Amino acid sequence: MSNKPFGTTPSGEAVQLYTLRNAKGMQVEITNYGGRVVSLLAPDRSGRFADVVLGVDSPEGYLGDNPYFGALIGRYGNRIAKGRFRLNGVEYKLAVNNGANALHGGVKGFDRVVWQPREAQSPDGPSLELKYTSKDGEEGYPGNLTVTVSYTLTADNGLRIDYHATTDKDTVVNLTNHSYFNLAGQGEGTILDHVVQIYADRFTPVDAGLIPTGELKSVEGTPFDFRQPATIGSRIGNKDQQLEYGLGYDHNWVLNHKTGSFDVVARVGEPVSGRVMEVLTTEPGLQFYTGNFLDGTIRGKGGKVYPKRAAFCMETQHFPDSPNQPKFPPVVLKPGETLQSSTEYRFSVEPAR
Ligand code: GLA
Repeated sequence: MSNKPFGTTPSGEAVQLYTLRNAKGMQVEITNYGGRVVSLLAPDRSGRFADVVLGVDSPEGYLGDNPYFGALIGRYGNRIAKGRFRLNGVEYKLAVNNGANALHGGVKGFDRVVWQPREAQSPDGPSLELKYTSKDGEEGYPGNLTVTVSYTLTADNGLRIDYHATTDKDTVVNLTNHSYFNLAGQGEGTILDHVVQIYADRFTPVDAGLIPTGELKSVEGTPFDFRQPATIGSRIGNKDQQLEYGLGYDHNWVLNHKTGSFDVVARVGEPVSGRVMEVLTTEPGLQFYTGNFLDGTIRGKGGKVYPKRAAFCMETQHFPDSPNQPKFPPVVLKPGETLQSSTEYRFSVEPAR
């Protein structure tokens, strides 16, 4: 692992960029500003490496307006309706930053804070450990929450992310990573020809503000059925109210696996390059988002322009708005407990069909 300076925040904090490498030549760059994955080089079927995550060229670009490129998301990933929830009889009010709702931890979420870095060597490969303590009341959330996130580049081309959190007061937590992937290479067109499989029989339908209705709906007969491989583009334009609300896919899938067990929950392949990405997680849900809000206005890495659907995200998570949804898996963390969660994006190649 190596590191170099990566700019300074407006409040004067110096930020670093870390490079993790493995023996197969895979390389990942991560900054401790927002814990963001800045680049990820993965080989195609002929061994050619390409950067498969979207981002911007300069540290200033990350400080500026951008849609969570590569970022760690917290304290609560995804939406909380009207930015309000009750816990132990107390109503908490969060910043509302997405229409009427709270999204991705608030105005200054974990994607916009400086994490304390530590380089480590795990048995699986080089690790960058990032630590952040979110103060009681930060962005409206109760309790001092101490979060440690370890990024490990494994020997078999996986980027593993291990999350740990503890609190001194009951609080709600939902941590994820918001990398935007294009397996053809960042800036190489849209992801509509990528072939996706998601091991989920159900998803959580939403209202027009993308808040779950509370129903766990069968994917059977809907454009949300990815139990068999299908291209992203094959049904994204279907006349379907859920797709209209999301402007495409921007929904939470209810994963079939047992929560807490570390399993492959999704697989994505790009036919031309042969690159494959498997998603493994312990989490119960997966937000599959197809870059519907990208609109060509952001100048990305290497001057690339990112049109609508230039990338997809697979945000492993607990379900959106869980603090207000008694039937969803719980997201409350109490003093004395440790939140532990793992996700891995594992890269390989498949032969031409
Ligand atoms: C998440 C949300 C999307 C969008 C992106 C960021 O994936 O579900 O609706 O807000 O973040 O643009």
